[in-house]
Amino acid sequence: MDDFPRILAALGTEISTPAPIVLIDVVEENITRMQAFADAHGKAVRPHVKTHKSVRIGKMQLDAGAIGLTAGTLSEAEIFAAAGCPDILLAYPLWITGAKEGRLRRLSRATRLSVGAESAAAIERLAEVMGDAADALGIVIEVDCGARRSGVRPEDAGVLAAHATRLGLRARGVFTYPGHGGTIGARESAAADQAAALRTAVESLRAHGIEPEIVSAGSTPTAEFSTDPVITEVRPGEYVFNDWDNVRLGDSAPQNIALFLASTVVSDQGHPHVILDAGTKALAREGNPERGYGQVPSFDGYLRVLNEYHGFLELPAGGPRPVVGETVAVVPHHVCPVVNSFEELIITDRTGALLDRWPVDAQGRLN
Ligand SMILES: Cc1ncc(COP(=O)(O)O)c(C=O)c1O
Repeated sequence: MDDFPRILAALGTEISTPAPIVLIDVVEENITRMQAFADAHGKAVRPHVKTHKSVRIGKMQLDAGAIGLTAGTLSEAEIFAAAGCPDILLAYPLWITGAKEGRLRRLSRATRLSVGAESAAAIERLAEVMGDAADALGIVIEVDCGARRSGVRPEDAGVLAAHATRLGLRARGVFTYPGHGGTIGARESAAADQAAALRTAVESLRAHGIEPEIVSAGSTPTAEFSTDPVITEVRPGEYVFNDWDNVRLGDSAPQNIALFLASTVVSDQGHPHVILDAGTKALAREGNPERGYGQVPSFDGYLRVLNEYHGFLELPAGGPRPVVGETVAVVPHHVCPVVNSFEELIITDRTGALLDRWPVDAQGRLN
């Protein structure tokens, strides 16, 4: 993070702001570190592509040893399957309507596809859509481990898996997302909830005569505690770039942040803030009124207010003040929506030598 101003200076006039700048050597290290940790604990890695939405970075993860990728939408899965990813878990309670029918059938022929399911109705719909090719579709039952988002009670997983099997689908296992591990001090206990839920879910499948091959756990904040023997794979997403929230939660060091937003000061009317060219269209509204919506560490400032194209960079009284026309490095609170705001990533490294521009292949692929 300390390197960002120097990298911006090295990039100079090569970029138009706002722009997401990726330190690809840091990305490589982040991928290697997560894979090595998982290898050391006998877990597979199935990274979530929603963070980078980049075929090139997905390939880096697969080359480093990931067994496949996780997608959040059908269209994300389509992009990565078309790029050659051999095994995709669409970890979402998918409901198939309209054009998704044909797309699901085609996708199940293009890659080894598994989808999340957490209701009998969704499983019946998936079986109906797949028809006589039902066994080409893997079903991974989603259980709730405390996030209270989607997912059945762990003890109910077996009934659903058995239902999928009866309808000709391939019940492959269970997954959960410990989203309640995303607050300070909650990572370890959320991971413990996760392990307990997955153990119960596995027992529930076994009680119905199904031996799960996939027992899948989240997430970047909880990854270091997701070592319970029941877990077969982890699905971290953010670890590839990391962001201010990961540092705040304690699952990343500042020097492991691999993406920042280059943004230019466009107005200074003498208020306690200056205006940047990065608003919600670039950063989304991630953060809160107290912490703000993005950090500018080199000026000890934070984005206090965001309009669509304007960011109000609050600065400490008497501190250094960037001048109009100056480019600053914004560290996002949550990196994923920043990537989704842009068509391309500026690829550089710690030296700031401009290396490349990579497309955000799955940008905006929400359906
Ligand atoms: C189902 C699922 N799996 C995995 C992840 C990855 O979590 P993280 O981005 O915190 O690494 C997410 C994140 O939202 C998710 O929803």
